[in-house]
Formats: sequence, C-alpha cells, structure tokens
Amino acid sequence: MTGSSASIRRMLDKKRQGKKITMLTAYDFFMAKLVDGAGVDAILVGDSLGMVVLGYETTTSVTMDDMIRHASAVRRGAVSALVIGDMPYNSYSDPVIAVKNAKRFAEESKCDAVKLEGECYEAIKAILDVGIPVLGHLGLTPQTAQEFKVQGKEIADAEKIIGASEELERVGCFAVVLECIPFELARLVSSRLKIPTIGIGAGVDCDGQVLVINDLLGLFDRFKPKFVKKFADLGIVAQEAIKRYKDAVEKREFPGPENSYAMNKDNLQKVKYSLEKSINGTAS
Ligand code: KIV
Repeated sequence: MTGSSASIRRMLDKKRQGKKITMLTAYDFFMAKLVDGAGVDAILVGDSLGMVVLGYETTTSVTMDDMIRHASAVRRGAVSALVIGDMPYNSYSDPVIAVKNAKRFAEESKCDAVKLEGECYEAIKAILDVGIPVLGHLGLTPQTAQEFKVQGKEIADAEKIIGASEELERVGCFAVVLECIPFELARLVSSRLKIPTIGIGAGVDCDGQVLVINDLLGLFDRFKPKFVKKFADLGIVAQEAIKRYKDAVEKREFPGPENSYAMNKDNLQKVKYSLEKSINGTAS
C-alpha cells in the first residue's frame, strides 16, 4: 500500500469509528510543516491560494503553474499528512484536459490526490482511471458560484446535493467536501455516504472539517464568513512586530552589537592605512 492509500484508508477508518477527520489548507513549506507537525490528517493546497496568498479578488485567476509551485512547497513540508492539490478553474473542462492537468499535478508536485469542484463526473472518472485519487466538492463551489450564499436550503437544491454526493461516491471519490450548506443537510449526506464528508460551513456532523489556514490564524481580513473561527490573531501580532522593527531601525536601536560582526582591529587599521595611502598617492 502506498503512503497516500494508507492515509485515505485511515480517513475511511476514522469515519467508521466515529472519529473526526482534520484537514487544513496550506500553500507553502513552512505552513505545511506546522500543519503536518500538529498531526492534521490532510493538507489541501486550495485554490483559495489566489485570494489569501496571491491577492486576487476570486479564485478563478489561479493557474496550474501556480498550484503546482505551491503544492510542491507543501509536499516538501508535509511528512505524514495526505497532500491534496486543488484543480484550478478551467483545468478540468473535459476529461482529456482533466487527465493531462491531474497527471502534471501529481507528477510535478508529488501531491497524493486532487480535488475537483462540482458534478464533473466524467472528468473525475478519467482521473481515477489513471490512478489519481479524487476528493469531490459540493455545495458552494467558488469557481463557478454566481453568489456566495448558503446552498441547499430549498428542496430541489437539497435533493440535488444528496444525489450528487451519492454519484461522487459511486464514481470513486475517496471523500467529499461540503461547503456552506445547512447542517441538517450535511448530517443527512454524511449518514448516507460510506466515504467521509469534510465540512466547511456545513456543521459539526460532517465526518471531518476543513478551514483555510489564513482564516484560522487571523491572516486574512478582507471578509469573514460566519463559518470561520479565528483560533489566533497572527495578523495583529505580525503587524506589531513589523512596527517595532521599523521603530528600532529609525531610532538606530537595531541592529545592536549582538546582531553585528566585528573586524580584527589590526586588519582594520591596515585597510584604513592602505586606503589613505592610495588616496594620497592618487592626489600627488
Ligand atoms: O480552495 C480552498 O481552500 C477550498 C476549501 C475552502 C475547501 O476549496
């Protein structure tokens, strides 16, 4: 069994045993090391990269090259966690394109699995056929959403999500992300599926949870959805440190002797002496 299939098996076991699965996003080596070191089950290199790292308004400007570069960095920092690469907008518009991009993703970044948004069953099946595990994503799917609002409140929408989740399980996804749906609907979906559900804004009864790491750490302040909980305020801590640095530089308190390198006095004298000599020599 490969490392990734063992990790996927562990996630399925956790669901069966009623233990919660943890997933977080990460986009670079350092953050991946922290998340992995904390024992989180899976790291999603989300295309939220576009908004929280690259500064775009939405996720749709993110490219395969962006995702591969960041997923490679995450891979280098993650020893134990399953690393999942998020397929960006337009990278799986048909099965052939989907396979080409998923293979690139897996081969170049060494991610263990990929995630696709929505009901793109043919693309998912084609990727599974070349041996790359797939995580599904239903409910609010930011790549195509017209409006960022709770999904599945109406009967027809709720039934559509239930049907789609069952189809994702049937085609072979190892788990499915449920984003921004009522907790009762997420509970229903979770109880009907054998594969784990990973919720974000979908209540406590999902089999696992995922959050964007920048939201959790207080490193993204453009907006805060109701489902986000800040577990720290690192943005404030970081800005205070930066202000202290600026202040110390301006007051000549940094760098102090403890941050500076000294030179042998004799050598310094000799350098000064030869400088003077060459200046005097040039002048005469
Ligand atoms: O891109 C992302 O970070 C995601 C999660 C919010 C599930 O898709």
